[in-house]
Amino acid sequence: MGRLDGKVALVTGAAKGIGAATAELLAREGAKVMCTDVDETEGQKVVDAIQDAGHTASFMTHDVTSEEAWEKVAGETQRSFGGLHVLVNNAGIAPEGIPIEDLPFESWKRTLAVDLDSVFLGCKYAIRLMKECGGGSIINISSIMGLVGTPRSSDYNAAKGGVRLLTKVAALECAEAGYNIRVNSVHPGYIDTPLVRGVVERSEEASANELMGMLTMLHPIGRLGTAKEIGQAILFLASDESSFVTGAELVVDGGYTAR
Ligand SMILES: NC(=O)c1ccc[n+]([C@@H]2O[C@H](COP(=O)([O-])OP(=O)(O)OC[C@H]3O[C@@H](n4cnc5c(N)ncnc54)[C@H](O)[C@@H]3O)[C@@H](O)[C@H]2O)c1
Repeated sequence: MGRLDGKVALVTGAAKGIGAATAELLAREGAKVMCTDVDETEGQKVVDAIQDAGHTASFMTHDVTSEEAWEKVAGETQRSFGGLHVLVNNAGIAPEGIPIEDLPFESWKRTLAVDLDSVFLGCKYAIRLMKECGGGSIINISSIMGLVGTPRSSDYNAAKGGVRLLTKVAALECAEAGYNIRVNSVHPGYIDTPLVRGVVERSEEASANELMGMLTMLHPIGRLGTAKEIGQAILFLASDESSFVTGAELVVDGGYTAR
C-alpha cells in the first residue's frame, strides 16, 4: 500500500531540484503525477524515469505565470487522470540579488510573477478541481525567505512572504466552504539544487567554494538540505497522515531560523 494510492497529483517545476524529487516520491507512493515545467527536455526525462520504475506520470509544458496555461493543465489533468487531489506549487526562480534602489521594476515584476502569481493561479484552478473530487491538499513552496528578510532579495522575500499568507487565506476559505481541501506552505532552508548552484556560480562576492561554505554555516545542522528531504515533508502534507494540518507553515531548514 502506498501512502498516496488512488490520488492524482500535479507538481509544477518538476523538471529539476525539489520538484523532480517530489514527483518521484509522490509517484512511488502510488499517486498518478502530472509533471509540468517550462523545461520540456528535463521534464520529460523525469517522467521517463518515473515510468521506467513502474509508476504513472505525464509531462505537460506549462508556464506557471500564464492563466491560460493553468486552464489547459487543469483540463488535461482532469481528462487524463480523472481529477486532482494534490497540488505542489513548486516552480520558482531565485532572487535577482540586487538592492532595492537599483532593482529594475521589470525584474521585480518577473520574480513576483513566477514566485507568487503562479501560486495564486495554482490555488484557483486546484480548488475548482479538488472540490469536485471530495477534497485535496495544496502545498505551496515558500522559503525561509518567506519568514526572515535577506539583503538584496526584496523581490524573492516579498514573493515568498506573500506565498505564506496566501496559503493561510486559501486554507481558511476552503475550511469555511467545507471543501475538505487543506492548504499549507513549506519553508526550505538552502537546498542543494540547480537553483542554489546557479546563485553560487553567479556570485561576484566570493568563490563558489567559499560561498557554499558560508551557506553551510548558516544551517546549525552543518550542511545544506537535499531535494529529497523537502520531498519527504511535501509527501507528509500530501498524504492523509496530515489530515488535521491546514494553514500551517512547515519549516524544513536544518535549524536556519531557530536562532
Ligand atoms: N533550493 C533552495 O535552496 C530553495 C530554498 C527555499 C525555497 N526554494 C523554492 O523551492 C522551489 C524549487 O526550487 P529548486 O531549488 O528546486 O529550483 P530549480 O531551479 O532547481 O527548479 C525549479 C524548476 O522550476 C522551473 N520553472 C522556472 N520558471 C518557471 C515557470 N515560469 N513556469 C514553470 N516552471 C518554471 C524550472 O525550469 C525548474 O525546473 C522554488 O519555488 C524555490 O523558490 C528553494
